[in-house]
Amino acid sequence: MLRSRIRRGQGTRADEGTARLPELAINGGTPVRAAPYPAWPAPDDGYVDAVTEVVRSGDWGGFPEPGRNATAFEEAFAEYQGARHGVLMMNGTVTMEVALKALDIGWGDEVIIPALTFSATAYAPMAAGALPVIVDVEPRTWTIDPDLVEAAITPRTRAIMPVHLGHQMADMDRIVEIADAHGLAIVEDCAHAHGQQWRGRGAGCMGAFGSFSHQSSKILTAGEGGSLLTNDEALARRAHSIVDCGRAKDPDEKEFTFGANYRLSELNAALLVIAMQRFPEQQEARAAAGKELERLAAEIPGVRVMPADERITRWSFYNYIVAIDPESFAGRTNEIVCAAMEAEGIPAEVQYPPMSRYELFQPSLSRLPVAVEFAERLDPSKMSFPVAEAAGLRESVYFMETVFRDGSRGVEDAVEALAKIQRNADELPS
Ligand SMILES: Cc1ncc(COP(=O)(O)O)c(C=O)c1O
Repeated sequence: MLRSRIRRGQGTRADEGTARLPELAINGGTPVRAAPYPAWPAPDDGYVDAVTEVVRSGDWGGFPEPGRNATAFEEAFAEYQGARHGVLMMNGTVTMEVALKALDIGWGDEVIIPALTFSATAYAPMAAGALPVIVDVEPRTWTIDPDLVEAAITPRTRAIMPVHLGHQMADMDRIVEIADAHGLAIVEDCAHAHGQQWRGRGAGCMGAFGSFSHQSSKILTAGEGGSLLTNDEALARRAHSIVDCGRAKDPDEKEFTFGANYRLSELNAALLVIAMQRFPEQQEARAAAGKELERLAAEIPGVRVMPADERITRWSFYNYIVAIDPESFAGRTNEIVCAAMEAEGIPAEVQYPPMSRYELFQPSLSRLPVAVEFAERLDPSKMSFPVAEAAGLRESVYFMETVFRDGSRGVEDAVEALAKIQRNADELPS
């Protein structure tokens, strides 16, 4: 669509002599990068051998829970991240639902989440029966704004779910302080933050639970999968029980509790065991490439780099997010700029709209049994998240993780593409 519009605008034979040749690849110009970035996941024989062994063993499923590979991964990942317990399951959405259920959060309870995140963060409280209370993000990091968290607390609030978005972490100093002061649980959404540390403490280890996704695009992946981390043995047991149809995990318990089958197969778990072995080296290379991008991208006019918070002591990100100033891009928004980046051969995406634009997750449109007294507060037309709306609808450009797996060249190409698009912004389709 975009391309055909541009072609139409390129002129006819009569004005061919004066027409300017397009610079941007989205208009037919030469792309900055012709070669694809390294594919992800990056398979090697170690993965093949691990899966072959599971196939030969005949123990393919996740029952009895946890299986041999699941246990090995849970222990290795928990240790790397600095938690006492890991609980492996099907994905990084049900992880958060299970966490809230293990915390006994459900009907009538409120859970505070940020306005800029993947739909899963809002789905989880709803799946547990609780109300997601959405607050705006901070302009400095685009993660949940602690002042707004504090202002949103009511007698029904039970938990805060900060999301460590892109290359940042939420301000865990403030979130922990607020949670402690109000007796609230913290469930960290760490789908983007495998390996991150905040003042020496691992992401996912600072509250009741940390939730991780092992879906294909994530940096610690088995195609599908999700992990919970916790330091609390009783909570770990409850989470194991919920993912295993409610089977008792405590030797003293005889009865089934409330649960479903969220077990992950041993085939996926075996992939994760190998992925974990590869991870520390990948983390170091990605962090070095990320620093280079941070430095170079800051030189592009109209691009605001949001440096990683200095309290992050081990940096291990999924995507790196920059903010464009649409004015410096001839009034075009992030969506057009990302399409132009893709055409230049650079994987870049807008990712998330603000929560006020996710129809399904606007509480008044959902099936939540919302008390009448909340009607005003939950009316989507009255929701306003200025920072998340500016980010999601106009400014955010996510450099995808593959950009950071081709050394300096990968980063330089990405920066050159964005600079080229900015220089030639008047050529962008509107
Ligand atoms: C911030 C965030 N939370 C949760 C999830 C859900 O993870 P999964 O796809 O494994 O269900 C994702 C995955 O895309 C995510 O980006």
